[in-house]
Amino acid sequence: MAAIIDGRAVARAVEQEAKEQVDAMVAAGLPRPGLAVVLVGNDPASEVYVGRKLKKSEEVGIRSIEHRLPAETTQDDLLALIAQLNADPEVHGILVQVPLPEHIDTGNVLRAIAPSKDVDGFHPVNVGRLNTGTGGIVPCTPLGVMKLLDTVFDDLTGKNAVVIGKSNIVGKPIALLLLEREATVTVTHIYTENLADLARQADIIIAAAGAPELVKGYWVKPGAVVIDVGITRIKGEDGKTKLVGDVAFDQVQHAKAVTPVPGGVGPMTIACLLSNTVQAARAQLAGTSTDSFAVELDQLPDRSMIFSETEAQPGA
Ligand code: GUN
Repeated sequence: MAAIIDGRAVARAVEQEAKEQVDAMVAAGLPRPGLAVVLVGNDPASEVYVGRKLKKSEEVGIRSIEHRLPAETTQDDLLALIAQLNADPEVHGILVQVPLPEHIDTGNVLRAIAPSKDVDGFHPVNVGRLNTGTGGIVPCTPLGVMKLLDTVFDDLTGKNAVVIGKSNIVGKPIALLLLEREATVTVTHIYTENLADLARQADIIIAAAGAPELVKGYWVKPGAVVIDVGITRIKGEDGKTKLVGDVAFDQVQHAKAVTPVPGGVGPMTIACLLSNTVQAARAQLAGTSTDSFAVELDQLPDRSMIFSETEAQPGA
């Protein structure tokens, strides 16, 4: 039987650590970390995610500041709010929930956030830092995946990792984090030929294609570790809906360890957001954070960072 990696338990440990760091800051007379969460419109899934983020922030002692804007908000008004949050010394982290309404250019908005406050790690400066192994804020879901792998492996050196999914927010950053740890990484996607054959060679499979139950039992080598980032609501045989991941969970019991859906990667995303917020606040208060490179990179042409519909939606 595969071991089940308990994402809820690991997330609780990450949250506890964040809480202890906040307590230590307050005890030292420093301000509480402040997280501004911006939600434009009323997409029901986004409302749920944002509600969870605000609740968990409060639980660890982060001061959360909610900005709910109507769906008709103009891009200029949203950019003006971000400029105000960038300049506010009590705000250490800024999260703009995506997807944004169609009339707003998501790339423009995400690039407007000061990189030192970009707790999602979506700004090109943070993407560039990750790419070059020069620090920066790491996106929450990939960071959560690495923490889950750390519960199974002491060392990733030389491990053969296959990442299924190439999104900017999950697949690509996970591949970079695995490379940083000296794993041998193959990045694949739903159009990859011989995907099953490639997956079957892997010591580690990261399934992040947003394709329900894509990874079948025969794709998984006995003893491999399988991390499932997907989460999709489907109709079961009994007619009731259920949440499934990108992995046919019941078929991979010959794996060494596997994450469940729900209760695997999902809880880690918010836990890592809290951790990122505390680290960002500490860096800002210590004066060690820097937004350098921002000027040049802000001039880059538009690069879409929009979550596609088929992409894995972290945060559940
Ligand atoms: N929408 C779904 N997941 C996320 C996330 O992790 N961050 C932001 N900003 N929006 C999201």
